[in-house]
Amino acid sequence: MDKQNRKAIIAGNWKMNKTATEAAALIDELIPAVKDATCEVVICVPFTDLTTAVAKCKGTNIHVGAENVHFEKSGAFTGEISADMLVDLGVEYVVIGHSERRQYFAETDKTVNKRSRAALAAGLKPIICVGESLTQREQGVTEELVRMQTKIALNGVTAEELKNVVIAYEPIWAIGTGKTATAEQAQEVCAAIRKVVGELYGEEAAKGLTVQYGGSMNPKNAEELLSKPDVDGGLIGGASLKAEQFAVIVDAATKG
Ligand code: 13P
Repeated sequence: MDKQNRKAIIAGNWKMNKTATEAAALIDELIPAVKDATCEVVICVPFTDLTTAVAKCKGTNIHVGAENVHFEKSGAFTGEISADMLVDLGVEYVVIGHSERRQYFAETDKTVNKRSRAALAAGLKPIICVGESLTQREQGVTEELVRMQTKIALNGVTAEELKNVVIAYEPIWAIGTGKTATAEQAQEVCAAIRKVVGELYGEEAAKGLTVQYGGSMNPKNAEELLSKPDVDGGLIGGASLKAEQFAVIVDAATKG
C-alpha cells in the first residue's frame, strides 16, 4: 500500500508555551515515552527553547523543529530568525504558514511560499500548513481553497526539494476547539492535497508526500484519524504539551 512507502510523522507544535526550563523537563519525560516509536517524532518549539531541545534530543529519536522562519537570508529585519540560524543550531523542521500566523501576523500565501523556499534552500524540512475556516467550509470552498494554498506554497519548489516537504491539513475551526474533523473529512482533504501535488509533480512524487492532519488530535481520536489512507501523521497542539498524551498519539501512528 502507498501509505507504507511514506514517512508517518507525528509532530508537536508547542506554540507559545514552555520556557526553556519547562521545555527541558517536558523533553525528559518525552524521551522514554516515545523511544520505541516506528514513526518519525518531531517537536516544534519556540525559538527560545531550540538550543535546549536540540541538546536534549541529541542521540534520541526525537527531531527538533522551529515554529516559523524568515524568508530573507540576513539583514535589517529586527526580531526575525533566518533559516541559516536554525540550521546552525541543529534544527531540522520548521512549521510554516500556521493559521495562527496567517490570522494574527498577516501571513499570506505569498509569504508562506517565500518562507518555504528559504527553508528548503537552507536544508530545512518545512511543515506547510493549509486549511479552511468554518465559514469557508460552510460555503463549500474547502477543496478549492486548500488546493490554492498548496499550489501557491509550492510555487518554485523543485521536485527534489518536494521530498523534504510535509503538508499539514489544519481546519481552522478544529484548532484548539476540541472540535475535530471527522476521519472522513480529514481523509477527503488530505487526499485532495495529495491530488494537487500529483498534478504539479506527478503521481510518484505525490505518493511519497507526507500529509498530516492537525486540529484537536488527541489520544482518543488519533487512531481513527491516522488509520485513513491519506492521513500520514499529525500536527498536535495541546496534546503535545503532555508527554503521556503525545506518546499515545505516537503509538497510534505506529499502528496506523
Ligand atoms: P490543537 O491540537 O491544540 O487543536 O492545535 C492544532 C494545531 O494548531 C497544531 O499546529
